[in-house]
Amino acid sequence: GQLLNRHQFLHGLRLLVTAGGTEEPIDPVRFITNGSSGKMGYAVAERAHQMGADVTLISGHANIPVPSGIKVIKVQTTEDMGHAVLDQYPKADALVMSAALADFEPVHMADQKIKKGPSSHHMILKLKRTPDVLKRVAKIKKSGQLTIGFAAETQNLIDNATHKLKAKKLDLIVANDVSNPKIGFGGDNNQVTFIDRNGHQQKTPVESKLKVADQLLKIIAKLKG
Ligand code: CTP
Ligand code: CA
Repeated sequence: GQLLNRHQFLHGLRLLVTAGGTEEPIDPVRFITNGSSGKMGYAVAERAHQMGADVTLISGHANIPVPSGIKVIKVQTTEDMGHAVLDQYPKADALVMSAALADFEPVHMADQKIKKGPSSHHMILKLKRTPDVLKRVAKIKKSGQLTIGFAAETQNLIDNATHKLKAKKLDLIVANDVSNPKIGFGGDNNQVTFIDRNGHQQKTPVESKLKVADQLLKIIAKLKG
């Protein structure tokens, strides 16, 4: 009855979530990555599933057991994540892009482990830009589909996040101040500001990532009408 309805308010929503950090191999035993734990994206996937959504999770590195009932696609690099997202997005009503993608990848991956040699005091690693997945998603987005991005910033949070909202043609951006060690990367708590296309802002208190996920999903349900 009413209780079921209230808890299943995302019933029928096909939600695509990305989470975790991507890894760009340097050689067979080394890679470039970042400190993303994956907790925020996994929280969104888990709560959305509990609320009745049909959830597909595309995950980079994250040391978290996958909640049952969720389809998971594991990927390593930003390029792999890009392929998986572009493949799944046409079947989704909404995308929540919480993964932390590597912005650069080595120009060449060495076939063999790189040896430091007897006299090398420095090493230069040449990197090139990875594709911007959300900009590619913008090109295939159909009316009625929602795209939600995250912005990880250490300064000018609102300005930088608003710029990304527009540049990536998002419906909503979740602005995350990652300079504060008590919130964001790694921890169980977060504090974010949701910014929509009309410039409307909503700042959450410091609270668990599950609670932040609930608020995000409530906004998604509202945007879906
Ligand atoms: N993102 C993406 N493709 C990339 C890099 C990031 O789709 N190659 C997505 C992230 O998943 C996130 C949003 O874009 O939802 C913003 O990521 P962020 O790292 O904050 O911004 P960038 O656009 O990469 O800019 P910068 O790191 O230079 O601030
Ligand atoms: Ca980035």
